[in-house]
Amino acid sequence: MTTHKLLLLPGDGIGPEVMGEVKRLIGWLDAQGIARFETEEGLVGGASYDADKVSITDATMAKALEADAVLFGAVGGPKWDPVPYEVRPEAGLLRLRKDLALFANLRPAICYPALAQSSSLKPEVVEGLDIMIVRELTGGVYFGEPKTITDLGNGQKRAIDTQVYDTYEIERIARVAFDLARKRRNKLTSMEKRNVMKSGVLWNEVVSAVHQREYPDVTLEHQLADSGGMQLVRWPKQFDVIVTDNLFGDMLSDIAAMLTGSLGMLPSASLGETNAKTGTRKALYEPVHGSAPDIAGQGKANPIAMLASFGMALRYSFDRGDLADKLDQAIAAVLAKGLRTADLQSEGSTIVSTAAMGEAIVKEMQALHG
Ligand code: IPM
Ligand code: MN
Repeated sequence: MTTHKLLLLPGDGIGPEVMGEVKRLIGWLDAQGIARFETEEGLVGGASYDADKVSITDATMAKALEADAVLFGAVGGPKWDPVPYEVRPEAGLLRLRKDLALFANLRPAICYPALAQSSSLKPEVVEGLDIMIVRELTGGVYFGEPKTITDLGNGQKRAIDTQVYDTYEIERIARVAFDLARKRRNKLTSMEKRNVMKSGVLWNEVVSAVHQREYPDVTLEHQLADSGGMQLVRWPKQFDVIVTDNLFGDMLSDIAAMLTGSLGMLPSASLGETNAKTGTRKALYEPVHGSAPDIAGQGKANPIAMLASFGMALRYSFDRGDLADKLDQAIAAVLAKGLRTADLQSEGSTIVSTAAMGEAIVKEMQALHG
């Protein structure tokens, strides 16, 4: 049996708690001989700053480059507000994305039947929702230069961020999105702001060209990102796959998360280019939610987004779609039984701790395995 090399980076806040539930699941899979994992653990974010005065060390970066996949918890918190910008907790995550060249961020928003009532939207709007947001992750305003604050000397300062996209960056993320659409309901919606931004004009042009050249069988639609955000809350089931840039993708995926009942439900996969020789690709898996310092250490966090992120690793890095499907089934079953973490509270449900939720999901996996 293949041994999968995993680097675990729990990070800050609720990161270690939700990662604990992945460790429980990995331990069970190992013990049952269902899959083999070799795990190493490292520091990232504020935890790394406290230990080493950087948001991720070169040694940990080297381990990330060697691993088959990285599992990432969350970073940040008010404790590190005063630290220099270059070594703020988030910088560790951005370095991982950039140095591992993880340009494709997949954020599936699925509304489990049992959670249609938990969304802030009407149940009929979200029931049965299954959409995929594909966010470009290594370009755009997150990394564009110049990125500066200059003192103008007259009591004024000037801040500059740069939104920049080259053709190849748009082409490769468009291909990831078109490929996914082909395996789903064959529809792609591209979102940008071509009415205001040059990068939006090019984005629109390039996605259309890739469509014409390589994917004429897929239905392509363009929406302006602001109106796309409105459509996401008005009637989200019109979408199948959405492709958008780094910043719009950040915002739109948080919006989409609430369609699923809670931000604590959304997993993500960040993928690099497939190596033509080995057929493998660099990958990092993380929940979309943050470090939630307000509830950290209290056993209140929802581990489902982290567990489902591990599920995406099974699917996209380890070719174990069978196990990923079982994990999704187990999550659905536990929710159907009425178990909820505090973020999902609804009438008639039982509020359980992070650990109890993780335990229940592993038990359900056990039942599914007979
Ligand atoms: C996300 C997060 C990150 C981002 C932060 C922590 C840098 O919000 O993954 O969505 O903005 O990309
Ligand atoms: Mn975000």
